[in-house]
Amino acid sequence: MQAKIEAAVTVLQSGGTVAFPTETVYGLGVDASNPLAVRQIFKIKGRPADHPLIVHIENAGQLDKWARDIPDQAYLLAETFWPGALTLILQRQPHVPNEITGGQDTVGLRSPDHPVAAALLHAFGSGIAAPSANRFGRISPTTAHHVRDELGQQVGLILDGGACRIGLESTILSLAYGEPVLLRPGGIAVEALEATLKIKLSFAQNKNSAAQQKIRTSGMMATHYAPVTPMELHSAEHIVQRVQHLTALKYKVVVLTLGRKISGIEQSIRQHAMPAQAEQFGHDLYAALHSLDQEGYDYLLLESPPTTRVWLAVNDRLQRAAHSVQK
Ligand code: TXA
Ligand code: MG
Repeated sequence: MQAKIEAAVTVLQSGGTVAFPTETVYGLGVDASNPLAVRQIFKIKGRPADHPLIVHIENAGQLDKWARDIPDQAYLLAETFWPGALTLILQRQPHVPNEITGGQDTVGLRSPDHPVAAALLHAFGSGIAAPSANRFGRISPTTAHHVRDELGQQVGLILDGGACRIGLESTILSLAYGEPVLLRPGGIAVEALEATLKIKLSFAQNKNSAAQQKIRTSGMMATHYAPVTPMELHSAEHIVQRVQHLTALKYKVVVLTLGRKISGIEQSIRQHAMPAQAEQFGHDLYAALHSLDQEGYDYLLLESPPTTRVWLAVNDRLQRAAHSVQK
């Protein structure tokens, strides 16, 4: 792997792109100090230029290289959760390229917890800007194979570090405008952040404060993280009816259940059991959607998970993925 890391550093230094594993999902990285390199990311992903990128750094010691006016809360969180699946939004240093921040006055920073990502950041010696390594609006990759399938030749080099341990994107917390605001639930539980900060956090989508209106997160768009195959979310009872309806119309459907098989569905209909436990479900979700997307179904019918807080990140991704067919 060391030779591959060195090759990856050479690609980054020459302004190229490197896909690399993190504990959440695979990232598509470039030198965060090189605006021309950063622009390539938007081209490869088909992502609008005003959607900001996360800068990945080796450790909290580099926070002040990218951010300024850093509140104590940021250091406390970094100390507690880094390296890990937490992205902090902070006021940016003036030199941070507009290409990264989407022209905003803030920057997202995260120190990833994966040996390959850590080795790459260490060897490169500076920040790596990286969104998830998928096309805009699609499911994030959780294996090198997913990256190759979706972006293939367009990426300078792909580092294969196996399947991602968490499988859902990082939790994003803004500390840029005073009161901490949760922008995206993810790999670090909201309860854990609350316990550390000793405050109650609210999810930005539910609120309407001035600070939140200044914040733009592409993950906050209604349709995002979607498989190609139309996906619907229903209760188990409703799935039974929906299967009858769709199969009568000759559609090919697959049912994703929460652990147990749903009774009352014809034997010939495939039921794919997802884990009934939130963390495990989150870990398997993108991999399951990636693989079912290849199998030519007309509809993916998912049994809705519980709405308790441990399912927050999963439900957030499911609602966006299902949005287009739920209207
Ligand atoms: O787990 C993750 O966070 C992965 C791995 C590769 O680190 N990265 C990831 O990046 O999910 P991306 O670009 O797919 O999603 C990052 C989200 C976007 O929705 C972006 O709008 C938001 O973070 N973001 C980045 N910088 C921001 C900023 N300054 N203010 C508000 N939102 C920001
Ligand atoms: Mg993404």
